[in-house]
Amino acid sequence: MTIHIGAQKGDIAPTVLMPGDPYRAKWAAETFLDNPKCINEVRGMLGFTGTWQGHPVTIQGSGMGMPSLSIYANELISEYDVQTLIRIGSCGGMQDKVGIRDVVLAMTASTLSTPSRGIFKELNFAPCADYALLAAAHQAATDKQVPVHVGGIYSSDVFYDERPDLNEQMMRHGILGVEMEAAELYNLAARHGRRALAVLTVSDHLITHEALPAEDREKSFGDMVEIALTAAFA
Ligand code: HPA
Repeated sequence: MTIHIGAQKGDIAPTVLMPGDPYRAKWAAETFLDNPKCINEVRGMLGFTGTWQGHPVTIQGSGMGMPSLSIYANELISEYDVQTLIRIGSCGGMQDKVGIRDVVLAMTASTLSTPSRGIFKELNFAPCADYALLAAAHQAATDKQVPVHVGGIYSSDVFYDERPDLNEQMMRHGILGVEMEAAELYNLAARHGRRALAVLTVSDHLITHEALPAEDREKSFGDMVEIALTAAFA
């Protein structure tokens, strides 16, 4: 057990999928895993372990934002020796070519700041995905005929942004989408020698102002879970 995760050591698999929303963790575990068992309820941040095609997998909520994700990813890495961490979440589209429902695979994650800033200080460390996971996820999305984009994303600290000029600069520099967690996940994976990837579904769009209708969210989220699972065990 850790401060924020109530699971025993053997209850968490070496491969963990991390949606922001704990109820998405429950839905994904009950939909895609065999014999899912709830392994964490501390603070309602639900986690489940089961198997997918015979492979043990844990799906653990991360909460929203890098400070929250950092707590769970740190404990999963340091206490439960997790080797592969895949964020499954949503992002706001930032390019015309990136449509609602499309999948974005985050090759890099730019930020203003992360919880790792205390270490990096003036250095602009470049958080990046594990290439093997990225390539396998791209193959899985292509095989499923899900529209997929690979490139840089922006991990913001704020959802209600009082500095829209930063979004504009990100768009100008080809960034595909904005979310709030991937950069710190990549920082932690780099620091501890683990594999990480963020697989994101475009849920809203900063240019067109479209948003994914509620009834479509489940299907798009399901595609993303299957892409992440296929990539993890490719
Ligand atoms: N901004 C930040 N995070 C997000 C967004 C957004 O527009 N959409 C989904 N996650």
